[in-house]
Amino acid sequence: MAGHAFRFGKLILETACTETAHAAAGLAAGGMQNSTLTVFILRKPLHAVLCYDYAMNTFDELTRYGIVHLVPILQADSMEYMESLLKSLRPRTFLEIGTAIGRTAIDAASLLPELKVVTIEKDPEMAAIARQNIRKADLEERIVLIEGDALETEIPRQEYDLIFIDAAKGQYQRFFERYSPYLSKDGLILSDNMFFHGLVEHPERTNNRHTKGLIKRLKRYREFLESNEEFETEILDTGDGIAITRRKNA
Ligand SMILES: C[S@@+](CC[C@H](N)C(=O)[O-])C[C@H]1O[C@@H](n2cnc3c(N)ncnc32)[C@H](O)[C@@H]1O
Repeated sequence: MAGHAFRFGKLILETACTETAHAAAGLAAGGMQNSTLTVFILRKPLHAVLCYDYAMNTFDELTRYGIVHLVPILQADSMEYMESLLKSLRPRTFLEIGTAIGRTAIDAASLLPELKVVTIEKDPEMAAIARQNIRKADLEERIVLIEGDALETEIPRQEYDLIFIDAAKGQYQRFFERYSPYLSKDGLILSDNMFFHGLVEHPERTNNRHTKGLIKRLKRYREFLESNEEFETEILDTGDGIAITRRKNA
């Protein structure tokens, strides 16, 4: 993983929900380097305590923040895939829809010293945290954070070699239609969460109406990509499912 100075630390996470603790444990084990992890499940009140010592760099620090604050960050194997793609493609420009705390933007810019990143975040609190993280990583000159709704904001009018769609799952087609015209000739568009935790294949596993609506929209987005005349798409069984889209005539 890309990163800066190492430092040692200890993290204790308390949660009243054992499932959350175990999910966080999985994320931590997959996403943190050099981490040893101990999970304590306490009774009365039911608390799960995650405690791990680790050698921490910027990437790990942001991973840790994501886990503790339950920010939806890219899964460990998707992040690995993203890094291998960045290394092989060596894009000059990267557009990310959905910054969260800036983890992917910072990792990408740390990995490729020539890369210019534009990233869009709607939630002002997230944007403030991302801005702070970008400043701390000393990447303000190469990461432009745009605060606002990606369906409304204006971005620098240039070509992007890599576009990463990772924001509101129900809006993927609209993001695609708005930003695909900016894709460079040989560029790639990645869309994360195409499986939506297995629910796109098995919608019967949820009764939540909102989630059912999202699943339908993600399914429609997949059909839109698969029947697209201009673009071709492959869905990778990595993380929560990543769609990779490129121009047919590229
Ligand atoms: C899954 S997280 C992004 C994770 C980030 N790409 C990463 O890899 O670490 C999704 C983010 O998209 C933001 N978001 C949702 N809808 C948005 C929109 N219409 N425009 C911009 N950001 C949006 C959310 O606030 C959230 O922070």
